[in-house]
Amino acid sequence: GKSGYEHYTLKEIHEQPRAVRQCLRGRPQPFEGSISIEELEDVPRPTEVQFAACGTSYHASLYAARLFRERGVRATAFLASEYDAAAVPIDEGTLVVGVTQSGETADTLRALRTANAVGARTLAVTNVVGSSAARETDRAMYVRAGPEIGVAATKTFTSQQVALAMLSSALTDDRSGEFVAALRALPDRIQSILDDSRAREIAAEYVGSDAYFFVGRGLAHPVALEGALKTKELTYEHAEGFAAGELKHGPLALVTPETPVIALVSGRANTERMLGTITEVRARGAPVVAVTDDPESVERRVDRVLRVPETHRRFFPILANVQLQLLAYWVANGLGRSIDKPRNLAKSVTVE
Ligand code: F6R
Repeated sequence: GKSGYEHYTLKEIHEQPRAVRQCLRGRPQPFEGSISIEELEDVPRPTEVQFAACGTSYHASLYAARLFRERGVRATAFLASEYDAAAVPIDEGTLVVGVTQSGETADTLRALRTANAVGARTLAVTNVVGSSAARETDRAMYVRAGPEIGVAATKTFTSQQVALAMLSSALTDDRSGEFVAALRALPDRIQSILDDSRAREIAAEYVGSDAYFFVGRGLAHPVALEGALKTKELTYEHAEGFAAGELKHGPLALVTPETPVIALVSGRANTERMLGTITEVRARGAPVVAVTDDPESVERRVDRVLRVPETHRRFFPILANVQLQLLAYWVANGLGRSIDKPRNLAKSVTVE
């Protein structure tokens, strides 16, 4: 049942501390500062990683590709429907990773099959044990978020990000006590957001806007895209995610006093450049909501603040996304939408 929540989606947002705990179980090694993934123990270290995924899982893949690149491994995220293994160079060091919650998404399975056909090594990162993606790849890493009933991916996205952050560390033999400690603290950090979030009251202020724009840079860019996707799905309203630096190359024409801009501002990186973007959109009259771990630096420069606790630089996007989920949920709730089963959408997309 919904355990007293009005929707499964809200229940699943609140289940995230537990989902992440399950995802982590046994994997971080606090004494070594390393990550051990049982399913992948003897997997050779890739020299290049290609991700293929759709929708929310694609956003998790963009985040993961960036983490690999930061650790010195070439990595690219492809939309599975656009992935053409025959046209993408593959060599013996390439690992093709299909990221799919359900393990049954037709576009992602097709991408994995073409990768298998050209002789690439393949890995599925999936939430469903024994799914097609798990069976048709060389190896599977399980996300262990538990079953998700809401059509919109929430706890499974958060857990995918955590799983992929661990994957990027394990496959690059990274060792960092700080990284491991911050990973293990994530369930409590997420819990504190769920306990104190002001997303509900902020959603009530901005419900009925013409559009919602999400901006982020670097590691937070994928989460800007995800915040917009979640808002589209749950609210049926116009929402877009942008790399903050791209606004001035066109999208700024859309910005008005009726289009709130939700800005992801991490004090550990990019605050100054994000403040530049914030100044640009405010000059066009747009209200700005900052999702930030550094409220002191932004408070006077924005209209509203959704704060997230401090964490390792690499995990800011994971925490910020929880606020974006709550914001999308409460806007949709205010509009009376069919939140658990949005119109036109299915949980598992088994056609190409
Ligand atoms: C968004 C959503 C979809 C899925 C996409 C891929 O909330 O649920 O965008 O992320 O259809 O599904 P999986 O991960 O099952 O391959």
